[in-house]
Amino acid sequence: MARPSPNPSRSPLAALLGTTSTGWVGALSAASLAVTVAWTVRYRGGFGAADKPRFNWHPVLMVAALVVCAPNAALSVRRWGWRRTASKPAHAYANLAAVATAGAGLYPVFAFHAERDIPDLYSLHSWIGLATLCLMAAQWLLGYAAFYSSGASPALRTAFVPAHASFGVLLLVGVAAAVATGFTEKLGFEGVCSPVVTADCRVGNAAAVLALATVACAVWGLTHRTTASASSAATAALDSALDSAPPASGSPDESSALLPPRLGGGAFAVDPAPAAASSGSSGGAADAA
Ligand code: HEM
Ligand code: HEM
Repeated sequence: MARPSPNPSRSPLAALLGTTSTGWVGALSAASLAVTVAWTVRYRGGFGAADKPRFNWHPVLMVAALVVCAPNAALSVRRWGWRRTASKPAHAYANLAAVATAGAGLYPVFAFHAERDIPDLYSLHSWIGLATLCLMAAQWLLGYAAFYSSGASPALRTAFVPAHASFGVLLLVGVAAAVATGFTEKLGFEGVCSPVVTADCRVGNAAAVLALATVACAVWGLTHRTTASASSAATAALDSALDSAPPASGSPDESSALLPPRLGGGAFAVDPAPAAASSGSSGGAADAA
């Protein structure tokens, strides 16, 4: 059987360009937040406690939460090369930070609407944005209940992994739609793109394109399989084994003996053939036994 690639996140495209999809997501998300902040400060009047400067917290907090935090958190669970004991809490708490920051980012826009007597939730952007956030909060609660609290049975975890991973990717699509409609709407309201295309318009569009490129790279990294797939059964069995393991008598790294090999897979992973699992060479539930 072919040996798995040592770095499953290194797609042919990434290899061509010299880095991994996780590297691209890190760099693009940082650039997108930097350009959004620069755009806000240079063209939108900066930050403040009332009126438009208060509104301005909204795009910046949303980009920080959903373009920086969420995609990197999604990739962290398998593709950062961390041990399971570190990657699982990192994934859970980075996602919590994303949901909490995005929740906080709603306050400035609702307050701005109240201040100006503008109705709430009148736009496609607001519907997409709110729906994405509510579903993300639900995903967090269900993810926590299934994988973090020790209440869920191994069978339930096994059944839940593919749905959780695929839904995580779907949420990123919602983020992309919210970001695209948000920037479009704001630039339209300010009238900076038409009839004259201003620098404000170009920089705002650049921030949006960087955000969309971040999400696109994350979706690519999560869905693109470079080698044989990973087993969701292995994940569930591993989680159960870690949860039911006696209190650590040695270093936390002892639990790494339970780790399945990193084989890529991800959101659309297909379980390996039973023969492969039992051969012990490509992961599977046998790893956690
Ligand atoms: C990506 C995550 C985002 C989410 C989840 C989101 C969510 C929302 C929600 C729920 C509202 C409705 C508030 C209300 O009805 O009072 C809203 C309003 C608004 N957002 Fe966002 N937003 C996001 C990003 C952005 C970005 C990047 C911009 C760009 C500047 C933006 C611009 C606006 C504007 C102009 C409004 C007021 C008009 C309206 O209600 O549609 N948003 N957003
Ligand atoms: C907003 C919340 C969340 C989102 C958007 C999310 C998203 C994702 C995504 C996209 C994946 C697939 C990763 C990959 O294929 O490399 C994944 C996997 C996973 N998530 Fe979450 N997640 C969330 C919350 C949680 C929470 C709270 C936990 C609790 C520990 C959790 C545990 C896991 C585990 C164990 C996997 C690995 C599944 C596997 O091995 O294939 N997630 N998550």
